[in-house]
Formats: sequence, C-alpha cells, structure tokens
Amino acid sequence: MKPREIRPKVYSVGAIHWDARLFDALIPLPDGTSYNSYLIRGSEKTALIDTVDPQMEHVLMNHLNQLGVESVDYMIANHAEQDHSGTIPRVLEKYPQAKVVCTPRCKGMLTDLLMIPEEKFITVNDKETLSLGDKTLEFIYTPWVHWPETMSTYLREERILFSCDFFGSHLATTDLYVTDERQAYEAAMRYYAEIMMPFRTNIQKNLEKIKDYAIDIIATSHGPIYDKPEFIMRAYHSWVFDEPKNIVVLPYTSMHSSTRKMVEYLVEALAQRGVTVKQFDLAATDIGKLAIALVDAATIVIGTPTVLAGPHPNAVYAAFLTNALRPKLRFVSIIGSYGWGGRTVEQLAAMLPSLKVELLEPVFIKGLPKEADFKALDNLAATIAQKHKEHHFA
Ligand code: FEO
Repeated sequence: MKPREIRPKVYSVGAIHWDARLFDALIPLPDGTSYNSYLIRGSEKTALIDTVDPQMEHVLMNHLNQLGVESVDYMIANHAEQDHSGTIPRVLEKYPQAKVVCTPRCKGMLTDLLMIPEEKFITVNDKETLSLGDKTLEFIYTPWVHWPETMSTYLREERILFSCDFFGSHLATTDLYVTDERQAYEAAMRYYAEIMMPFRTNIQKNLEKIKDYAIDIIATSHGPIYDKPEFIMRAYHSWVFDEPKNIVVLPYTSMHSSTRKMVEYLVEALAQRGVTVKQFDLAATDIGKLAIALVDAATIVIGTPTVLAGPHPNAVYAAFLTNALRPKLRFVSIIGSYGWGGRTVEQLAAMLPSLKVELLEPVFIKGLPKEADFKALDNLAATIAQKHKEHHFA
C-alpha cells in the first residue's frame, strides 16, 4: 500500500501485517493486524505519530521516502510498546533533529526498552498542546489501555483523535476506513477483551474524558480508521459500563468423555431455562473467542477431568486467563470428573482470587455421569437461571 491522505497534509504511513498470527507470543491474530503510523505536515513543523513494529520498519521508511519527507520535527510516541515504538530509533537515525514527544512515564519506558538518549525527549503534561504552525496537537492522557504510560493525540483543526491501542483492532485490511462494521466490531471486541478488560474502570475514565472533545475520526494504531466514531464509542461504552448479560461461558476439556457428557447435558439444561451458553473445547478453541465471550458473561462454568490429582492443564490455563482478564462475571462453578480422587475443585477455585464472584455448588463426580449426577447438573442450571433472573441479567 502507498501512503494515503486522510485529511489535507495528514497521511497514513503505517504497515499492514497480513501474515501475523500471534501477538506477544500469546494472542491469536486470525485476521492479521496493522501497525498504523501517521504523518502530519503543519505549515512550520512536521510530526510523525507512532511508528511500526521493527519487522515492518522498511514499510514505514519507504512511505516516508515516497512522500519526500525531508525532516521530522516531532516523533510523537503515544505508547512505549514496541509494536508502535520499535522503529523510533530508525526514525531518529534518519531524522536526527527529531524530538520524541511523550508522557514522562513513557520516556522512562522508552529509555529502558530502546535506550533512546535523554536529550532526544520532550515530555508533555496532560492536555498540553504543541503547535505545528497551522495545526495544533493536544495530548490527552489515556492510561491503562493496558500499559500505564499511554496517551492519545488530538489534532484540533481536523478533529482527529489518534488513540493508539484504545479502540484498536487486530485486522489486516486494504480498507483505510471501517467498511464492515460487523467485522470491525468483533475484531475490536477481541482486542478490548484480550488486553483492556482488566482495566475496565480506567477505560471508563478515559471514555468520560474524551467525551468533551469533538471527534470526527478516530485513527487507531491497529486496524482500520473509524470515520463514524460513534459506532466504536457506543460499543466500548456497553463493554465497560453495562451489567453482564444472561450468558454462561463454558470452557472445558475432556479426556475420556465423562466431562464432555456433563458439559453437553448442562448446556441443554441451561438453554431450556432461557440462558445463552457459549461452549469452548479448550483443546481446540481460539483463546481470543473465549476472551470475547467473557466480556458480557454473567457466569463461567469450567469443565475439567482430574489429571495427576488436579485440574487438567487446559482448565488451569482457562482459569488463569479468566482471573487475569477480570471480566464482569458474578458467578462461577466447576464441573467434571475423577477416577479415584484428587483436589481438582479446590485447586481450580483457588485460581480465581481476582474475580468478585459467588461460587455455585460444583458438580464433581466419579467416572461417567449417572442419574443423580444429571439431577445435580439440572439443579446447577436452575440455580444459574434463577440467579441471572434475580439480577435482571437480560
Ligand atoms: Fe499495540 Fe500495546 O501495543
């Protein structure tokens, strides 16, 4: 892709990474991603907002060459993570007069991560402005959109918010703007679920803060740009402020079908009581789909067999991830089976200390499920349905 002009003298110069399949050696990227970078040419000064992952450095540098950029005065670093900051050293090498503009906390991180020298930095306060001549940048602190140092940059004259990870989506596309809102919604929800969900109260504050700004465009650092920003702002508002919904998430793993039979029975029992269930086989599932499902769920039920006297490692992974993501869950339960003994339920339940949840009576049985076990699953389904009703989770 060539550089593209978003507004007069404002260009998209980042890189599309079609083949990326894993982020942070953890997060699946089924649709690839992009590292967006933006060049703003003012009448007096030129600014570059964020860079790209170092493996795509050549794309950014080619774009700057194609636009004939002879000088960059300000290298705006909204965020220190290397998928956006990793090419800053190369930019400083090519444009030695450029100053890195960032929050004081970001300066510390860039010093640690990229060893950028002290004299290269200009730190900015919350809501401080920087003039490029006929264009004005305002820096708005938007911390904890998974790291603490992050800010957004607002271009006043064009009413563009460069929000970095905030509102972003891992989506490789040739479309500069969102054209398929359904696809963009799922990709943005995945991104929110995977990295921002634990910081929901900070995201609430950030949303409240940017409410005072007139925003025509949200230009993120991953995924297509929003030229109808109300769509993604509405989605975020619902994810962070709304009560959970009448949804049970049921991640499970099964070795010899006992747990699988219990899961299938419980799914049916819940569905008959009007509860929506999202079932995930942990041996095969895309962990991002599980994270998405957790955004609005009221209850999680983890299904596991007993391995070496404890929970199956797949179930441990799901419990660890859920605890780390701290979704809006209110209830948790555990179902599964054992052959001769173990401490599976205690061990798994102890892995969820960060969740503010009520533990509903687990159903943990010996061998294959029998009539009394199915009755216990019916009781669990009835309890969940009743709890959801009492809380008006719809
Ligand atoms: Fe896209 Fe937190 O970096």
